[in-house]
Amino acid sequence: MTTCTCRQHDNQATVEAAARAALPPAVVARIAQALTKEYPAGELIAVLHLLQGETGFLGREQMDAVAQLLGVPAAKVSGVATFYHFFRLQPAGRFQINVCTGTACYVKGADKVVAKLEEELGIKLGETTSDGLFSLVQARCLGMCGLSPVLMVNDEVYQRVAPDDIPKLIKQYTDQARPPVR
Ligand code: FES
Repeated sequence: MTTCTCRQHDNQATVEAAARAALPPAVVARIAQALTKEYPAGELIAVLHLLQGETGFLGREQMDAVAQLLGVPAAKVSGVATFYHFFRLQPAGRFQINVCTGTACYVKGADKVVAKLEEELGIKLGETTSDGLFSLVQARCLGMCGLSPVLMVNDEVYQRVAPDDIPKLIKQYTDQARPPVR
């Protein structure tokens, strides 16, 4: 057997090596496992879950590396990552606000709570503030429907939340991160 040394194959090998270097070893191994399947692209969501578990979010460079090694278009990887709300495209903020938009909370005005959070933080659901303090995450049901609308900031639960409560809540955590100067 002869080994191809043409420039095209050299380039491909270099690109694949760079892609492997951009990913945690567990993700590279998971992709190798996926490539043994008849339809490797069907493993994309599982690979992205593992990547997010390893790195905390899905970075652009890592998503491109997954596309390269799994042999799927980069646009498909981005499409999947942006479609599912459980994928995070930015590092998590110090305070993660999980706001419930399940049916019971929605009926009690969760949409207005979300709108107020977005207004106060200047971000949309799924985003993180530029100072890295807050991430705003949509939750489906936090299991406290009788006390809706409900949200959580990290492990702290807030029940029967009204839009007017939001500025004070944000200030409480902002002050915790950056105590006011007296
Ligand atoms: S729907 Fe919001 S806690 Fe259940």
